[in-house]
Amino acid sequence: MSNEKKRRPLRSELWFNDLSNPEMTAIYIERYLNYGMTLEELQSGKPIIGIAQTGSDLSPCNRHHLELTKRVRDGILTAGGIPMEIPVHPIQETGKRPTAMLDRNLAYLGLVEALHGYPIDAVVLNIGCDKTTPALLMAAATVNIPAIALSVGPMLNGWYKGERSGSGSIIWEARQQFAAGAIDAKQFLQMAASSAPSVGYCNTMGTASTMNSLAEALGMQLPGSASIPAPYRERSQISYDVGERIVDMVFEDLKPADVMTRDAFENAIVICSAIGGSTNAPIHLNAIARHLGVELSNEDWDAIGYEVPLLTNVQPAGEYLSEDFYRAGGLPAVIGELLRAGLIPHPEALTVTGKKFGELYQEAEIEEQEVIRSISKPLAAQAGFLNLSGNLFDTAIMKTSVIDDEFRSRYLSNPDDPNAFEGPAFVFDGPEDFHNRIDDPDLGITAHSILIMRGAGPIGYPGGAEVVNMRPPSYLIKQDIHAMPCIGDGRQSGTSGSASILNVSPEAAAGGNLAIIKDGDFVRVDLNKRAVMLKVSDEEIAKRRADLLASGGPNVPESQTPWQELFRKHVRPFSEGMVLEGADKYRDIGNTKVPR
Ligand code: FES
Ligand code: MG
Repeated sequence: MSNEKKRRPLRSELWFNDLSNPEMTAIYIERYLNYGMTLEELQSGKPIIGIAQTGSDLSPCNRHHLELTKRVRDGILTAGGIPMEIPVHPIQETGKRPTAMLDRNLAYLGLVEALHGYPIDAVVLNIGCDKTTPALLMAAATVNIPAIALSVGPMLNGWYKGERSGSGSIIWEARQQFAAGAIDAKQFLQMAASSAPSVGYCNTMGTASTMNSLAEALGMQLPGSASIPAPYRERSQISYDVGERIVDMVFEDLKPADVMTRDAFENAIVICSAIGGSTNAPIHLNAIARHLGVELSNEDWDAIGYEVPLLTNVQPAGEYLSEDFYRAGGLPAVIGELLRAGLIPHPEALTVTGKKFGELYQEAEIEEQEVIRSISKPLAAQAGFLNLSGNLFDTAIMKTSVIDDEFRSRYLSNPDDPNAFEGPAFVFDGPEDFHNRIDDPDLGITAHSILIMRGAGPIGYPGGAEVVNMRPPSYLIKQDIHAMPCIGDGRQSGTSGSASILNVSPEAAAGGNLAIIKDGDFVRVDLNKRAVMLKVSDEEIAKRRADLLASGGPNVPESQTPWQELFRKHVRPFSEGMVLEGADKYRDIGNTKVPR
């Protein structure tokens, strides 16, 4: 890449090549020489390409990025850039207590500061494990310097006793068997471990596969990048391509706000439905959109996404795993099928390739019809999310494509009241309360109860816990009842297949009405009307709210770390992406705000 291609001064030249300020330039430069960088390199006018490194020993899902980054660096050097790795605060989904979700915003803040305050002209976003993808896209949105995402790729298929063993899915299965006394603790561990046979992220269509797919659907990845399994040679090859491409993006001045437009988000919502994406997706995409100043709400998810058919037969909604999905054509095949059916609303949306979205996928074909279905033979007709509201909350999300026949026949099959049910609430204050009490037969939970979880939202937990997929009591599981209606102000793991009403906003800890619901209150859920109603009089609700206030307000447990306290003070509800209050007013700062 020759320097003549340069259209405007690079940000990095403020640090390394500012002739008006030789003293500061000398101070900035000298320390980068100490590990072997040369003056010629640093003053060459070549763009400095940051690599936002989420791979580490603490982040096993993303650890393979440490290898892939070598190929990214090769690509950057070949194209005439200079790579510099940026360590990102670790966000390991299954290892971080209390929840990795708490740290999404922390990693976001850290990366914003790194991209803004250091000599970085563009950035490769090493995405993968659940929260790493939104954290990095949010930071790229705020700073708005050229950015391209690179998935680490899913793990290979897992196997247990000759059957496919998928991340998360096998855990739900093992939990039920354990609760029913069919397996012991050692077998539980063996079952769980069978789903993780290689480097990479969860091999089901959980939050990781969803968010990596949506990074591509938003136009932020090279076509095909989301689905290639981590250990495949194509994964290393595309890493090289990403390194080459990001250097050109600097000279084209192609930035996240040019790619992640409202149109791109609408495309992503449709694609999320077709892949059976996780209910965490609305939280994260709403967050990325807010940092770009793009309007996006849970209403949009219902209006744009609900009617889209489910095409991917991948767990938890289907049978197969990510490696099968890749062989069947992967995400490109799904997008190609949607495009040809006219279901992609904005094929003209721009992507990081500089080409239009539609052009990239028009020819992509399904290779294996059992794993990726055609539009004419979908797995479910309506795969998107319902946006529910009522007197219990302003907004909550429900993924109806995972409702199985057993659940449908028990709760949704009354011909006089189609798609609606009601029952007495049973209320748990957080997951510990649930685990302590769920199996107590004296509580009187029946198959007609509605399980409620509160204290599991952004403020209440803190960070929002994936606990709303509550299993039935073990005595009901033994009677073959495997799923019950659940409502909660927390989240649900993307790998869970239960039909739950999730991400309730406002949460109980913020004064939402989940805080005043009592055991035995009747709750009516009407999917046609998109309504969830607490069948308690307005007067009684007002009285309970007054009592709650008089007794000191909703319960919020003590913070355990400084970050928890800061997070609780500043966090917005799930419906607003769980972003930090005030953070979303900072836009385009890599271009408009020169650091002092
Ligand atoms: Fe990291 Fe699923 S736990 S990708
Ligand atoms: Mg998850």
